Amino acid sequence: MTPTHRWILLLAVVCVGATLANNVLIHVQVVIRHGDRAAQDYFATDDSARVLFRGLGELSDDGIDNAHKQGLDFKKKYVDTGFINASYIPSEIVFRASAVPRVLMSAGSFSNALFRKTPEGGYPIIPPIMTKEYKDDALLAPALDCEDGWDDIVDAMKLPNSTNVAGQSLNKMESEMWPESCKDVPSEKVDAIIAELPNKAIKMSDPYVNCAKDPARKFMYEYLELLGGSGSHRNEMRLKRTVGLLTNELLANINTTAACKFDNDCLKKNPKMRVYYSHDVNVLALSDVFDSISKFENVNPAFSSALVFELYRNSATGYHYVHVLLKNGQDAEFVDTGLCETKEGCHIDAFRARAKKFAIQEPMPCDHTQAEKAKKEEEEKNKQ
Ligand SMILES: *[C@@H]1O[C@H](CO)[C@@H](O)[C@H](O)[C@H]1NC(C)=O
Ligand SMILES: *[C@@H]1O[C@H](CO)[C@@H](O)[C@H](O)[C@H]1NC(C)=O
Ligand SMILES: *[C@@H]1O[C@H](CO)[C@@H](O)[C@H](O)[C@H]1NC(C)=O
Repeated sequence: MTPTHRWILLLAVVCVGATLANNVLIHVQVVIRHGDRAAQDYFATDDSARVLFRGLGELSDDGIDNAHKQGLDFKKKYVDTGFINASYIPSEIVFRASAVPRVLMSAGSFSNALFRKTPEGGYPIIPPIMTKEYKDDALLAPALDCEDGWDDIVDAMKLPNSTNVAGQSLNKMESEMWPESCKDVPSEKVDAIIAELPNKAIKMSDPYVNCAKDPARKFMYEYLELLGGSGSHRNEMRLKRTVGLLTNELLANINTTAACKFDNDCLKKNPKMRVYYSHDVNVLALSDVFDSISKFENVNPAFSSALVFELYRNSATGYHYVHVLLKNGQDAEFVDTGLCETKEGCHIDAFRARAKKFAIQEPMPCDHTQAEKAKKEEEEKNKQ
């Protein structure tokens, strides 16, 4: 390297350093999966129902701990640093969760880890969690029972009709794509063995453990892509149906904050932080919208996996930048997904351009015709 080159390099390093130092965090949004739960349909072992005593699909005690520990990591990053007030100010931070017990419970456990205790009683501060009835919640609950938007899957899996494609394709995958290395595990237990693997109180046999560790999680990953229309099963309609509204909301919140520029009163009117508690299908699909699905390395998102959207304003230039981070579970670090491939972060215009492709203002219409027809016919038959 010639002396001139050295000078140029030094200058470049100093400039980038100076710009980065001027970037101030002004807004944070988190989209996160619930903590450990029992699988929806099966237990992995004869003893599982005792440990997972809340029942199928419900949060376990591990899940409560897991969500709380995830909350403590977010506290370190966003509360202990003074970004969010440890006393909990409702106008500063807002929580929203999909209306199933495991998700609402996780949101509760996470959120009460963030703040200080009450000074007299020493009790946790429990912020409210906003929600909406599951069937009307196109923001956070995936609508998997629509009949339209599945043509690619009906074709690829050679399904006889488009009723309950989610269920039919899982059956088909289980009978035709179940990994050879899992042959000693009944394929319908796929979700159960993955869910119960991290639970120290449950002793699964070696074939179950070996299957759950990797092959089953890859199998589940592919199924989640299929459900949300993401990754190798990219389907614009399903992807928008799963995260189109959420993408729009994340963008709208960023817009509102960015529009304040340097006006502190304006900034104070909008929450600085929003937490959206949701499901694996949604977290994975959203990572695809923001070009970071490869960070999951073909393995299903961990419990409490979170995507974080940080908005920075450069105090010298006034430009806004977005960083998208992944924290894939409570044992994982925050990792910058490198959106837009610049150190500064994604310039807000580049971020908008990316989000715009999938953002929708109204829920994607859902055609239930086939399912409804079948149900009516069934009812007619029963009447006769
Ligand atoms: C947090 O809010 C309390 C109550 O309004 C206030 O006394 C305190 O100074 C605030 N802390 C910070 C770090 O802003
Ligand atoms: C669709 O196909 C599945 C699988 O063969 C079958 O169980 C179901 O009854 C069919 N539904 C309709 C409405 O034809
Ligand atoms: C965000 O702002 C951009 C630029 O002003 C605008 O084109 C876009 O429609 C806005 N999006 C939302 C969801 O508010």
